[in-house]
Amino acid sequence: MADLDRIMALEVTGFDPGHWEARHVYAQRVEVFPEGSLMAFYEGENIGCVFCEIWPETNDNALQADHFALGHDILERHDPVHGNTLYIASMVLDPALRGRSLGLPLFQGCLTTMAQVYNQLHSALLLVNATWTPARRIYMGAGFREVARFEGFFQPQAQPAQEGIVMRGLLPRS
Ligand SMILES: CC(C)(COP(=O)(O)OP(=O)(O)OC[C@H]1O[C@@H](n2cnc3c(N)ncnc32)[C@H](O)[C@@H]1OP(=O)(O)O)[C@@H](O)C(=O)NCCC(=O)NCCS
Repeated sequence: MADLDRIMALEVTGFDPGHWEARHVYAQRVEVFPEGSLMAFYEGENIGCVFCEIWPETNDNALQADHFALGHDILERHDPVHGNTLYIASMVLDPALRGRSLGLPLFQGCLTTMAQVYNQLHSALLLVNATWTPARRIYMGAGFREVARFEGFFQPQAQPAQEGIVMRGLLPRS
């Protein structure tokens, strides 16, 4: 419960109100896929989180906006037994720690952890808002490349709609 409070506090700092996930969405993620609900700690404080799902084989040409919809039920596609595509649903870092190049290690820590635990994973997908520059730079830095775009996907509360960019990258393998 304390984790959920912290997750929601981070969500509020990270996104426009029009993009906030509801508390029950995170509660379901933690319950259904605790292994993919990753928290980063520093000096005992939860300073960030990354949430994942494992999807079946995905073809870039068949990706649809509703696969990524805000509030979607993780059980729609999540299949940790047969799935081979890691879907990174959310990533947030505490605002007090932003701008110190911690985003890439946070992201890569997630990829490495999930690749170690789930051998069958071969690639990862995510959807990023075209205006979220730090996030896009991190994903590019991790070798992710754009594979699809959804015009007007993001609907901030008091601004015009913004484009969503789907990016795919390989999982690190040692
Ligand atoms: C995304 C997030 C975790 C990145 O962490 P961060 O501490 O802000 O970013 P970093 O310091 O690690 O920098 C990442 C890159 O963005 C650049 N950057 C950081 N702030 C920037 C800014 N305001 N404008 C432009 N570029 C910026 C950095 O130079 C770096 O690029 P480089 O590696 O090419 O030099 C953090 O900003 C966050 O939680 N944002 C809110 C939620 C969010 O957008 N999540 C992504 C969901 S898809």
